[in-house]
Amino acid sequence: MKRIEFHNREEEITEIMNILSVEPILITFVCGPINSGKTELFDHLAKQLPKDHIVFYINFRGKYISDYSDFIRVLFKVEREKDYKEILKTISETPVEALRFKGIPVTKSMMDAVFKKSYEDVFEFLEGYFTKLSESRIPVLIVDELQVIKDIKIDELWIYKLFNFFIRLTKELRLCHVFAITSDSLFIEKVHGDAMLHGRCRYVLVDDFSKEVTMNFLEKHGFNKEEKEIAWHYCGGKPLSLVELANSESREGKAEETFKIRKGQIEEIVYSLKEKNKKMFAAVLGVLSEFEEKDKTGYKYLREETRFLVEKNILFADPVNKELRAQSMLDLLAIRDAISRQKSSLFLLKIRKGIRSGDVR
Ligand SMILES: Nc1ncnc2c1ncn2[C@@H]1O[C@H](COP(=O)(O)OP(=O)(O)O)[C@@H](O)[C@H]1O
Ligand SMILES: [Mg+2]
Repeated sequence: MKRIEFHNREEEITEIMNILSVEPILITFVCGPINSGKTELFDHLAKQLPKDHIVFYINFRGKYISDYSDFIRVLFKVEREKDYKEILKTISETPVEALRFKGIPVTKSMMDAVFKKSYEDVFEFLEGYFTKLSESRIPVLIVDELQVIKDIKIDELWIYKLFNFFIRLTKELRLCHVFAITSDSLFIEKVHGDAMLHGRCRYVLVDDFSKEVTMNFLEKHGFNKEEKEIAWHYCGGKPLSLVELANSESREGKAEETFKIRKGQIEEIVYSLKEKNKKMFAAVLGVLSEFEEKDKTGYKYLREETRFLVEKNILFADPVNKELRAQSMLDLLAIRDAISRQKSSLFLLKIRKGIRSGDVR
Protein backbone atom coordinates (compact mmCIF):
# COMPACT_ATOMS: atom_id res chain seq x y z
CA MET A 1 0.00 0.00 0.00
CA LYS A 2 1.26 3.42 -0.97
CA ARG A 3 2.09 5.72 1.94
CA ILE A 4 -0.34 8.62 1.74
CA GLU A 5 1.11 11.92 2.88
CA PHE A 6 -0.41 13.73 5.83
CA HIS A 7 -3.34 15.88 4.82
CA ASN A 8 -4.43 19.23 6.23
CA ARG A 9 -5.57 19.48 9.88
CA GLU A 10 -4.67 23.15 9.88
CA GLU A 11 -7.33 24.14 12.40
CA GLU A 12 -6.52 21.36 14.84
CA ILE A 13 -2.79 22.03 14.56
CA THR A 14 -3.35 25.72 15.32
CA GLU A 15 -5.54 24.81 18.28
CA ILE A 16 -2.92 22.46 19.72
CA MET A 17 -0.02 24.82 19.00
CA ASN A 18 -1.91 27.52 20.92
CA ILE A 19 -2.24 25.15 23.85
CA LEU A 20 1.49 24.42 23.68
CA SER A 21 2.42 28.08 23.50
CA VAL A 22 1.31 28.80 27.05
CA GLU A 23 2.05 27.22 30.41
CA PRO A 24 0.40 23.84 30.86
CA ILE A 25 -2.53 24.51 33.16
CA LEU A 26 -5.12 22.01 31.99
CA ILE A 27 -5.10 18.38 30.88
CA THR A 28 -6.20 18.19 27.24
CA PHE A 29 -8.56 15.36 26.33
CA VAL A 30 -8.50 14.64 22.63
CA CYS A 31 -11.59 12.84 21.44
CA GLY A 32 -13.27 11.95 18.17
CA PRO A 33 -14.79 8.96 16.39
CA ILE A 34 -12.75 5.89 15.55
CA ASN A 35 -10.18 6.30 12.77
CA SER A 36 -10.69 10.05 12.57
CA GLY A 37 -6.94 10.61 12.60
CA LYS A 38 -6.15 11.44 16.25
CA THR A 39 -3.01 9.33 16.51
CA GLU A 40 -1.88 10.40 13.05
CA LEU A 41 -2.32 14.06 13.97
CA PHE A 42 -0.18 13.80 17.10
CA ASP A 43 2.43 11.78 15.29
CA HIS A 44 2.63 14.46 12.63
CA LEU A 45 2.61 17.28 15.14
CA ALA A 46 5.35 15.80 17.28
CA LYS A 47 7.65 15.87 14.27
CA GLN A 48 7.01 19.56 13.77
CA LEU A 49 7.59 20.84 17.28
CA PRO A 50 10.58 23.08 17.85
CA LYS A 51 13.61 21.43 19.35
CA ASP A 52 13.19 22.77 22.86
CA HIS A 53 10.28 20.30 23.20
CA ILE A 54 10.59 16.72 24.30
CA VAL A 55 7.72 14.40 23.50
CA PHE A 56 6.83 11.18 25.31
CA TYR A 57 4.24 9.07 23.54
CA ILE A 58 2.60 6.22 25.40
CA ASN A 59 0.05 3.97 23.74
CA PHE A 60 -2.10 1.59 25.75
CA ARG A 61 -3.67 0.07 22.66
CA GLY A 62 -3.49 -3.71 22.59
CA LYS A 63 -1.62 -3.78 25.87
CA TYR A 64 -2.74 -6.25 28.45
CA ILE A 65 -2.65 -4.52 31.79
CA SER A 66 -3.77 -6.36 34.86
CA ASP A 67 -1.38 -5.17 37.50
CA TYR A 68 1.15 -2.62 38.51
CA SER A 69 4.11 -4.18 36.70
CA ASP A 70 2.20 -4.35 33.38
CA PHE A 71 1.43 -0.68 33.76
CA ILE A 72 5.07 0.16 34.45
CA ARG A 73 6.15 -1.81 31.40
CA VAL A 74 3.91 0.27 29.15
CA LEU A 75 4.91 3.54 30.74
CA PHE A 76 8.67 3.13 30.63
CA LYS A 77 11.12 1.99 28.06
CA VAL A 78 14.53 0.79 29.10
CA GLU A 79 17.38 2.33 27.18
CA ARG A 80 20.67 0.61 27.74
CA GLU A 81 23.12 2.76 29.69
CA LYS A 82 25.21 3.33 26.59
CA ASP A 83 22.24 4.26 24.42
CA TYR A 84 21.02 6.64 27.01
CA LYS A 85 24.28 8.55 26.95
CA GLU A 86 24.14 8.60 23.20
CA ILE A 87 20.64 9.97 23.37
CA LEU A 88 21.75 12.69 25.74
CA LYS A 89 24.53 13.54 23.35
CA THR A 90 22.15 13.80 20.42
CA ILE A 91 19.89 16.09 22.42
CA SER A 92 22.44 18.87 22.11
CA GLU A 93 23.01 18.07 18.45
CA THR A 94 19.47 17.54 17.21
CA PRO A 95 18.42 19.83 14.39
CA VAL A 96 15.04 21.53 14.31
CA GLU A 97 12.77 18.75 15.51
CA ALA A 98 11.75 18.02 19.05
CA LEU A 99 13.06 14.87 20.67
CA ARG A 100 10.54 12.08 20.57
CA PHE A 101 10.30 8.95 22.64
CA LYS A 102 7.92 6.03 22.68
CA GLY A 103 7.62 5.35 26.37
CA ILE A 104 9.53 7.24 29.01
CA PRO A 105 13.19 6.32 28.60
CA VAL A 106 14.92 5.10 31.73
CA THR A 107 18.09 3.16 32.33
CA LYS A 108 17.98 -0.46 33.42
CA SER A 109 18.88 0.43 36.99
CA MET A 110 16.18 3.10 37.10
CA MET A 111 13.63 0.58 35.82
CA ASP A 112 14.67 -1.98 38.44
CA ALA A 113 14.25 0.62 41.14
CA VAL A 114 10.83 1.64 39.78
CA PHE A 115 9.64 -1.97 39.84
CA LYS A 116 10.37 -2.26 43.51
CA LYS A 117 8.43 0.84 44.39
CA SER A 118 4.80 1.51 44.99
CA TYR A 119 2.76 3.58 42.56
CA GLU A 120 3.01 6.70 44.74
CA ASP A 121 6.80 6.46 44.48
CA VAL A 122 6.59 6.03 40.73
CA PHE A 123 4.58 9.19 40.34
CA GLU A 124 7.03 10.94 42.63
CA PHE A 125 9.89 9.61 40.52
CA LEU A 126 8.19 10.89 37.38
CA GLU A 127 7.56 14.24 38.96
CA GLY A 128 11.28 14.52 39.63
CA TYR A 129 12.01 13.34 36.08
CA PHE A 130 9.80 15.98 34.48
CA THR A 131 10.99 18.69 36.90
CA LYS A 132 14.59 18.06 35.86
CA LEU A 133 13.70 18.03 32.18
CA SER A 134 11.61 21.15 32.37
CA GLU A 135 14.68 23.15 33.36
CA SER A 136 15.92 22.94 29.79
CA ARG A 137 13.00 21.64 27.73
CA ILE A 138 9.24 21.66 27.43
CA PRO A 139 7.99 18.15 28.17
CA VAL A 140 4.90 16.95 26.32
CA LEU A 141 3.24 13.75 27.48
CA ILE A 142 0.86 12.07 25.03
CA VAL A 143 -1.16 9.14 26.32
CA ASP A 144 -3.06 7.35 23.58
CA GLU A 145 -6.02 4.96 24.05
CA LEU A 146 -6.24 5.87 27.68
CA GLN A 147 -9.62 4.13 28.01
CA VAL A 148 -7.83 0.76 28.01
CA ILE A 149 -7.13 1.20 31.71
CA LYS A 150 -10.50 2.69 32.61
CA ASP A 151 -11.67 -0.33 34.60
CA ILE A 152 -8.38 -1.53 36.03
CA LYS A 153 -8.42 -1.66 39.79
CA ILE A 154 -5.35 -1.95 41.94
CA ASP A 155 -6.59 -0.91 45.39
CA GLU A 156 -8.75 1.64 43.65
CA LEU A 157 -9.36 2.64 40.05
CA TRP A 158 -6.00 3.31 38.41
CA ILE A 159 -7.39 5.91 36.13
CA TYR A 160 -8.05 8.20 39.10
CA LYS A 161 -4.50 7.84 40.32
CA LEU A 162 -3.33 8.74 36.86
CA PHE A 163 -5.70 11.71 36.63
CA ASN A 164 -4.40 12.95 39.97
CA PHE A 165 -0.90 12.71 38.64
CA PHE A 166 -1.86 14.58 35.46
CA ILE A 167 -3.44 17.32 37.55
CA ARG A 168 -0.24 17.54 39.55
CA LEU A 169 1.85 17.86 36.35
CA THR A 170 -0.41 20.53 34.89
CA LYS A 171 -2.56 22.66 37.17
CA GLU A 172 -0.38 22.34 40.28
CA LEU A 173 3.20 22.32 39.01
CA ARG A 174 2.81 23.47 35.40
CA LEU A 175 5.62 21.18 34.43
CA CYS A 176 4.43 19.24 31.46
CA HIS A 177 1.75 19.32 28.77
CA VAL A 178 -0.57 16.34 28.98
CA PHE A 179 -2.69 15.10 26.06
CA ALA A 180 -4.97 12.14 26.68
CA ILE A 181 -6.34 10.67 23.44
CA THR A 182 -9.35 8.39 23.17
CA SER A 183 -12.08 7.26 20.76
CA ASP A 184 -14.19 5.93 23.58
CA SER A 185 -17.01 8.39 23.97
CA LEU A 186 -18.49 6.60 26.97
CA PHE A 187 -15.18 7.13 28.71
CA ILE A 188 -15.11 10.80 27.75
CA GLU A 189 -18.70 11.13 28.87
CA LYS A 190 -17.65 9.83 32.28
CA VAL A 191 -14.62 12.10 32.41
CA HIS A 192 -16.77 15.05 31.44
CA GLY A 193 -19.13 14.47 34.33
CA ASP A 194 -16.38 13.82 36.85
CA ALA A 195 -16.11 16.35 39.65
CA MET A 196 -12.42 15.62 40.10
CA LEU A 197 -11.59 16.87 36.61
CA HIS A 198 -13.99 19.76 36.59
CA GLY A 199 -12.13 22.96 35.68
CA ARG A 200 -8.92 20.99 35.27
CA CYS A 201 -9.24 19.80 31.72
CA ARG A 202 -10.29 20.89 28.26
CA TYR A 203 -11.47 18.98 25.21
CA VAL A 204 -10.22 19.03 21.64
CA LEU A 205 -12.33 17.28 19.04
CA VAL A 206 -10.49 15.64 16.15
CA ASP A 207 -13.31 14.75 13.84
CA ASP A 208 -13.52 13.21 10.38
CA PHE A 209 -12.55 15.66 7.62
CA SER A 210 -15.09 18.28 6.58
CA LYS A 211 -16.50 18.05 3.05
CA GLU A 212 -14.11 20.74 1.82
CA VAL A 213 -11.03 19.05 3.29
CA THR A 214 -12.21 15.70 1.91
CA MET A 215 -12.66 17.13 -1.58
CA ASN A 216 -9.13 18.58 -1.45
CA PHE A 217 -7.82 15.20 -0.40
CA LEU A 218 -9.63 13.44 -3.25
CA GLU A 219 -8.45 16.05 -5.75
CA LYS A 220 -4.87 15.58 -4.58
CA HIS A 221 -5.16 11.85 -5.20
CA GLY A 222 -6.60 12.14 -8.67
CA PHE A 223 -10.22 11.13 -8.06
CA ASN A 224 -12.47 12.09 -10.97
CA LYS A 225 -15.85 13.78 -10.44
CA GLU A 226 -17.80 10.55 -10.20
CA GLU A 227 -15.25 8.89 -7.92
CA LYS A 228 -15.37 11.93 -5.65
CA GLU A 229 -19.13 11.66 -5.32
CA ILE A 230 -18.94 7.96 -4.59
CA ALA A 231 -16.17 8.49 -2.03
CA TRP A 232 -18.13 11.17 -0.18
CA HIS A 233 -21.36 9.20 -0.37
CA TYR A 234 -19.88 6.09 1.22
CA CYS A 235 -16.98 7.29 3.32
CA GLY A 236 -17.76 10.89 4.18
CA GLY A 237 -14.63 12.44 5.65
CA LYS A 238 -13.28 9.34 7.42
CA PRO A 239 -9.51 9.52 6.81
CA LEU A 240 -8.87 5.79 7.10
CA SER A 241 -11.53 4.92 4.50
CA LEU A 242 -10.40 7.70 2.17
CA VAL A 243 -6.82 6.47 2.32
CA GLU A 244 -8.02 2.95 1.52
CA LEU A 245 -10.00 4.22 -1.46
CA ALA A 246 -7.07 6.29 -2.70
CA ASN A 247 -4.93 3.16 -2.61
CA SER A 248 -7.47 1.00 -4.34
CA GLU A 249 -7.50 -0.02 -8.00
CA SER A 250 -11.27 0.06 -8.27
CA ARG A 251 -12.52 2.88 -6.12
CA GLU A 252 -16.21 2.28 -6.70
CA GLY A 253 -15.87 -1.45 -6.09
CA LYS A 254 -13.88 -0.87 -2.92
CA ALA A 255 -16.44 1.61 -1.58
CA GLU A 256 -19.32 -0.77 -2.20
CA GLU A 257 -17.46 -3.70 -0.72
CA THR A 258 -16.59 -1.73 2.45
CA PHE A 259 -20.24 -0.73 2.78
CA LYS A 260 -21.42 -4.31 2.41
CA ILE A 261 -19.03 -5.47 5.11
CA ARG A 262 -20.05 -2.74 7.55
CA LYS A 263 -23.73 -3.35 6.84
CA GLY A 264 -23.30 -7.02 7.66
CA GLN A 265 -21.51 -6.23 10.89
CA ILE A 266 -24.17 -3.79 12.05
CA GLU A 267 -27.00 -6.16 11.17
CA GLU A 268 -25.27 -8.92 13.09
CA ILE A 269 -24.94 -6.71 16.18
CA VAL A 270 -28.50 -5.41 16.07
CA TYR A 271 -30.35 -8.54 14.99
CA SER A 272 -28.56 -10.85 17.39
CA LEU A 273 -30.35 -8.84 20.08
CA LYS A 274 -33.70 -9.97 18.74
CA GLU A 275 -33.20 -13.44 20.20
CA LYS A 276 -31.49 -12.39 23.39
CA ASN A 277 -33.50 -9.41 24.48
CA LYS A 278 -36.60 -8.35 22.54
CA LYS A 279 -37.19 -5.22 24.58
CA MET A 280 -33.65 -4.02 24.05
CA PHE A 281 -33.90 -4.87 20.35
CA ALA A 282 -36.98 -2.68 19.97
CA ALA A 283 -35.36 0.13 21.95
CA VAL A 284 -32.18 -0.05 19.84
CA LEU A 285 -34.21 0.11 16.63
CA GLY A 286 -36.00 3.10 18.12
CA VAL A 287 -32.71 4.95 18.61
CA LEU A 288 -31.47 4.00 15.14
CA SER A 289 -34.69 5.15 13.49
CA GLU A 290 -33.92 8.68 14.71
CA PHE A 291 -31.17 8.68 12.10
CA GLU A 292 -33.47 7.88 9.23
CA GLU A 293 -33.53 11.47 8.14
CA LYS A 294 -31.24 13.27 10.56
CA ASP A 295 -27.44 13.02 10.77
CA LYS A 296 -27.34 13.81 14.45
CA THR A 297 -29.55 14.19 17.46
CA GLY A 298 -29.10 15.85 20.81
CA TYR A 299 -29.14 13.96 24.10
CA LYS A 300 -29.39 14.77 27.77
CA TYR A 301 -28.05 11.49 29.10
CA LEU A 302 -27.23 8.17 27.50
CA ARG A 303 -29.93 5.56 27.94
CA GLU A 304 -29.05 1.88 28.07
CA GLU A 305 -29.90 1.22 24.42
CA THR A 306 -27.87 4.24 23.33
CA ARG A 307 -24.92 3.16 25.44
CA PHE A 308 -25.14 -0.24 23.77
CA LEU A 309 -24.83 1.34 20.32
CA VAL A 310 -21.99 3.59 21.43
CA GLU A 311 -20.17 0.67 23.03
CA LYS A 312 -20.50 -1.29 19.81
CA ASN A 313 -18.98 1.65 17.94
CA ILE A 314 -22.02 2.21 15.78
CA LEU A 315 -22.82 5.59 17.29
CA PHE A 316 -20.48 8.26 18.55
CA ALA A 317 -21.52 10.44 21.48
CA ASP A 318 -19.96 13.88 21.57
CA PRO A 319 -20.25 14.74 25.27
CA VAL A 320 -19.10 18.32 24.86
CA ASN A 321 -21.85 19.24 22.41
CA LYS A 322 -24.19 16.54 23.76
CA GLU A 323 -24.74 15.16 20.30
CA LEU A 324 -25.21 11.66 19.04
CA ARG A 325 -24.28 10.59 15.52
CA ALA A 326 -23.07 7.62 13.51
CA GLN A 327 -19.38 6.71 13.88
CA SER A 328 -18.95 7.27 10.16
CA MET A 329 -20.85 7.86 6.94
CA LEU A 330 -20.67 4.12 6.28
CA ASP A 331 -22.35 3.47 9.61
CA LEU A 332 -25.03 6.03 8.86
CA LEU A 333 -25.81 4.42 5.51
CA ALA A 334 -25.83 0.96 7.07
CA ILE A 335 -28.17 2.15 9.85
CA ARG A 336 -30.57 3.65 7.31
CA ASP A 337 -30.47 0.51 5.24
CA ALA A 338 -31.23 -1.67 8.26
CA ILE A 339 -34.11 0.58 9.33
CA SER A 340 -35.71 0.70 5.90
CA ARG A 341 -35.46 -3.09 5.59
CA GLN A 342 -36.93 -3.54 9.03
CA LYS A 343 -39.79 -1.25 8.07
CA SER A 344 -40.52 -3.04 4.84
CA SER A 345 -40.43 -6.44 6.53
CA LEU A 346 -42.84 -5.14 9.18
CA PHE A 347 -45.05 -3.80 6.43
CA LEU A 348 -45.03 -7.15 4.66
CA LEU A 349 -45.78 -8.92 7.93
CA LYS A 350 -48.77 -6.65 8.51
CA ILE A 351 -50.07 -7.30 5.00
CA ARG A 352 -49.63 -11.05 5.42
CA LYS A 353 -51.40 -11.01 8.76
CA GLY A 354 -54.14 -8.91 7.22
CA ILE A 355 -54.58 -11.38 4.40
CA ARG A 356 -54.71 -14.28 6.83
CA SER A 357 -57.45 -12.64 8.86
CA GLY A 358 -59.26 -11.57 5.72
CA ASP A 359 -58.67 -7.89 6.42
CA VAL A 360 -56.42 -6.40 3.80
CA ARG A 361 -56.54 -2.83 5.04
N1 LIG B 1 -4.49 13.89 8.29
C1 LIG B 1 -4.37 12.71 7.68
N2 LIG B 1 -3.80 12.63 6.45
C2 LIG B 1 -3.70 11.45 5.80
N3 LIG B 1 -4.11 10.28 6.31
C3 LIG B 1 -4.67 10.28 7.54
C4 LIG B 1 -4.83 11.48 8.28
N4 LIG B 1 -5.41 11.19 9.44
C5 LIG B 1 -5.60 9.86 9.44
N5 LIG B 1 -5.16 9.31 8.31
C6 LIG B 1 -5.25 7.88 7.93
O1 LIG B 1 -6.27 7.26 8.72
C7 LIG B 1 -5.72 6.20 9.50
C8 LIG B 1 -6.40 6.18 10.84
O2 LIG B 1 -6.02 7.30 11.59
P1 LIG B 1 -5.67 7.20 13.14
O3 LIG B 1 -4.89 8.39 13.50
O4 LIG B 1 -5.07 5.88 13.47
O5 LIG B 1 -7.15 7.28 13.77
P2 LIG B 1 -7.58 7.39 15.29
O6 LIG B 1 -6.33 7.46 16.11
O7 LIG B 1 -8.41 8.61 15.36
O8 LIG B 1 -8.41 6.16 15.56
C9 LIG B 1 -4.24 6.45 9.54
O9 LIG B 1 -3.51 5.26 9.67
C10 LIG B 1 -3.97 7.14 8.22
O10 LIG B 1 -3.82 6.18 7.19
MG1 LIG C 1 -5.53 6.22 17.52
